[in-house]
Amino acid sequence: MSSHEVSQYEEVASKAIHQAGQLLLDRSSHFTTREKGPKDLVTDVDLAAQQVIEQTIKSAFPDHAFLGEEGNRPPTDGESSWIAAQENCWIVDPLDGTTNYVHQLPFFSVSIALWQHGLPRLGLVLDPVREELFCASAGNGVTLNGDEISVSTTSELSQALGAVSFPANIEDETDEVSRFAKAIQHCRSLRRIGSAALNLSYLAAGRLDAYWASSVKPWDVAAGILLVQEAGGQVTAIDGGDFQIDAPVIMATATAPLHASLLELFRAS
Ligand code: IPD
Ligand code: CA
Ligand code: CA
Repeated sequence: MSSHEVSQYEEVASKAIHQAGQLLLDRSSHFTTREKGPKDLVTDVDLAAQQVIEQTIKSAFPDHAFLGEEGNRPPTDGESSWIAAQENCWIVDPLDGTTNYVHQLPFFSVSIALWQHGLPRLGLVLDPVREELFCASAGNGVTLNGDEISVSTTSELSQALGAVSFPANIEDETDEVSRFAKAIQHCRSLRRIGSAALNLSYLAAGRLDAYWASSVKPWDVAAGILLVQEAGGQVTAIDGGDFQIDAPVIMATATAPLHASLLELFRAS
């Protein structure tokens, strides 16, 4: 991708993400909520924010494919093969952290990524409350509000602050519970922030040292994994295998030794 293309894509993505972010702020005390599934909330603002983003991106790039969480999904089960088949595919979560938004807890974000032939090329995550824009393009590093950022140098579990996402309907005696119980004993502490995109952004900025999840969707992580990679971090599946955009598992850490220690901890019975 030429530098001219990068700046053209970035300019449009930046416009779209700020439009959506402003909408989330403007509507934060008047919205309607419904349950998509058990403990899975969606508001009319999620839908409106996606519409704004879609309109801005499609009017600039009418030939590009678009995959957003809220409707207009491609008619496929295996999103990765569909994503990989697209020359240009925008992957969008218009509101990541809907449960926080509904409860007026100010930790939510907008996530916009451009993938080309199954690879992440551009990733933006906006926290509209703190006016923090995390932005990465492949091979060009990552910035927070224009300033270059990088992951932490933490290599020991005992010094690591980790974050985790849980499935909506988590049950006792599952791998998720066991991983949490092991990690909280060995890490400095763990957080559950409620926005996968913010977790990955904070990892890229050195505020967190590790993040893992077993129930993410492509739009939760499509931008965030590029932020982490461009900030010098590690991204794999939760068993150490290659990360796949259509698989629900992800493990991201600041450094290779920390990654290895966490994998070993999770493998241990
Ligand atoms: C959710 C958030 C949450 C994660 C869930 C996601 P949403 O996204 O990222 O942190 O635990 O798996 O579904 O529904 O707020 O867009
Ligand atoms: Ca999400
Ligand atoms: Ca969402």
